[in-house]
Amino acid sequence: MINRIKITILGRRCKLPFLHQYTRVDIGGYGNNTYFWSSSISNSFGLMKTSQSSSAGALRIIPAFLILVSVSLLFMECKSAVRSGSYVNITDPADERKIDSIVSLLTLEEKVNMLCGNGLFTSPGIERLDIRDLNYTDGPFGIREELERKSWTPLGLTTDSATFFPTGSALAACWNPELAYNYGKAMGEEAKTRGKDILLGPAINITRTPLNGRTYEYLSEDPLLNSELAVAYVKGVQASGVASCVKHFAANNQEAFRGLVDVQMDERTLREIYLPAFKAAVTEGGAYAVMAAYNKFRGSYCAENDFLLNTLLKGEWGFNGMVVSDWGGTHSTVNSALYGLEVEMGSAQYFNDRLLEAVKQGQVPEAVINDKVKRILRVNFFCHTAPPPPMISQVSTPGHMKTVYDIACQTIVLLKNTKKILPLDDQKVKSIAVIGDNAVQKHAKGGFGAGVKTRYEISPLEGLKNRIGGSVKINFVQGYKPVYTGTDGTGKIPDYAPDKALISEATRAASRSDVAILFVGNNREVETENSDRKSLTLPFGQDELIKAVCAANHNTIVVVVAGAPVDLRVADSCSSAVLWSWFNGSEGGNALADVILGKVNPSGKLPFTIPARLSDSPAHALGTYPGKDLVVYKEGILVGYRWFDTKQITPIYGFGHGLSYTDYAYADCTTDKPSYGKKEIIHVSLKIRNNGSMDGSETVQLYVSELNSRVLKPEKELKAFKKVQVPAGGEVNVKLEVPVANLAWFDDKRMGWVVNPGNYKLSVGSSSKDIRDTVQIIIK
Ligand code: BGC
Repeated sequence: MINRIKITILGRRCKLPFLHQYTRVDIGGYGNNTYFWSSSISNSFGLMKTSQSSSAGALRIIPAFLILVSVSLLFMECKSAVRSGSYVNITDPADERKIDSIVSLLTLEEKVNMLCGNGLFTSPGIERLDIRDLNYTDGPFGIREELERKSWTPLGLTTDSATFFPTGSALAACWNPELAYNYGKAMGEEAKTRGKDILLGPAINITRTPLNGRTYEYLSEDPLLNSELAVAYVKGVQASGVASCVKHFAANNQEAFRGLVDVQMDERTLREIYLPAFKAAVTEGGAYAVMAAYNKFRGSYCAENDFLLNTLLKGEWGFNGMVVSDWGGTHSTVNSALYGLEVEMGSAQYFNDRLLEAVKQGQVPEAVINDKVKRILRVNFFCHTAPPPPMISQVSTPGHMKTVYDIACQTIVLLKNTKKILPLDDQKVKSIAVIGDNAVQKHAKGGFGAGVKTRYEISPLEGLKNRIGGSVKINFVQGYKPVYTGTDGTGKIPDYAPDKALISEATRAASRSDVAILFVGNNREVETENSDRKSLTLPFGQDELIKAVCAANHNTIVVVVAGAPVDLRVADSCSSAVLWSWFNGSEGGNALADVILGKVNPSGKLPFTIPARLSDSPAHALGTYPGKDLVVYKEGILVGYRWFDTKQITPIYGFGHGLSYTDYAYADCTTDKPSYGKKEIIHVSLKIRNNGSMDGSETVQLYVSELNSRVLKPEKELKAFKKVQVPAGGEVNVKLEVPVANLAWFDDKRMGWVVNPGNYKLSVGSSSKDIRDTVQIIIK
């Protein structure tokens, strides 16, 4: 129990946490005496010495009081920083001394005890000092239901539902850091309400292969988009007083053999593609925690990887928070301790008595343990000095529902609308055949891994019925059934055989309706943690269904519900329009209906390339996936559109693609100067005119190409983007900034970033494949 009273310190009224009457916190002292704070206000303002018999005791109250005041001020500083949403990075030497003083009061046993989970989602504090355990939660797209303390069995409570947020790739399709911040903030508030301290998200591994089972959790194939969203997400979570744990560090780009595979890549590729979002999340976002990945990197498991954890993260990037293992991803005692892991999570095999023994034997210096405890205490103080869980639940509030609705609206990508069939005019359309299992599937849970016991999830069919159910005849037929032929031990294997009876029923429904909306794609059994998909082909015979329905009704709109690229060749060739919806959160169905009906103008842009065929994408073209014990990233820096553009391979839909119901014209693209020094910033300005009759938002993308580079450079690379609202018939000025330093490449011979002098082309456009204007500049 924690009580609070108000006292005045240095003229400021403040609340101090008072500790339980029967617990005590040692806060200072000298000789054999330590002092503690008791919540019994009646006993001389609560300050007691452990040895009451000493006559000098009264004198010693004074230094103890001063220490108490300093600790209290630290609490207050943290609190106000949390309120202002800024990063509480305890680097102030005075604050560090306070943490040091707590560490000095701990026994070795107490310290080692803090380094291993004491439940599946908790790690220990220090009970005698009333430093609470840390409570963790998945993340990254909603607060997980409560489980038994030491098992994965749900407790079956009625009080642990939460909002289902659009998953990672959906969020990325908004290309909107402001929304990523709102997303993190709302989820942080739900975590706080549920008494959680650390949110296990965002998940920011790069989309290297479209088959990765967790692509739906991750953000993008592009390091800049990934970084900007990660930073905003982290800041949002932490503004709620919950620590963000970015994962999975590093190079966890496939689920196949994730616990075994050793990832090898050159240093340039690592720095330019796979690390930027982690670095930004830590150095700009101020993330308090990092989760080490399951895989090995250059020969060592990520949870015992000296280079990743000590040299890069804690050394080069100055990270002073804590590293946790992925669940069950610890493999050693001494190496993990020496090479940078703070907390073993999901298992209790290595950071237990074995670690204690290793310290006693001198294999792990006690100073290393002290450093770990200090890192944990920084996080603990941040979480526990932040405002306590709100009295009124912040779960699924109207505000959060609006946040997920707004996000869901901006995720939806209009891939094709050749006959301008969209938006549907519900005054003219009298009947709609809604076809396909994904019209009614819910995606908050499923497969292996984190899910959300969502308070509600509006399916596409429910969304359409909510909006036009009273005026338009909606006829739902299933079209295909998710059928699995078995399991490979990690995930279910989808059946690819079409169901002839369901297809006939679908074509009948389509031919009798004005319009057919066909919902295809994957589900959370197909896209799942712990296994990758085996192919890009739509499962359950959906291509046969698409062909049949499109033939039966020429006004067929295909809606793809998936979190990762799928083979869209059939859908693209025979439908009138294609929309991409995602695992799109609690309000996904309402948002989709509003886009279909034109209440919302679509503005989503693909955060990844959709290849025509799997063999076109780099890791597969080069046969460097999945490996087993070893995978070498032979494509190097040519990941995603960097590969497709450089190799001149045409995807079905390129990175950044997404249409609108209106037309945007780009004009007057200029830079502020023709040439720049290496420390300058390139200011680009242009005008976007909305030539249509509907308000909308356009994401302006700026790509940079170095002309005649002496080293390999991708054909172009995203260097800035901005989403702007443009009213119908209106025009807005867009300003983009690119620091010249961001044009650098990583020279692994010199182990440093280099900006090549020379000519560069800046291309602005609506997607990587739809460049509207270019400007050339010179870098001196
Ligand atoms: C996943 C993590 C997750 C953890 C706890 C692991 O299997 O890789 O992303 O946070 O489980 O659920």
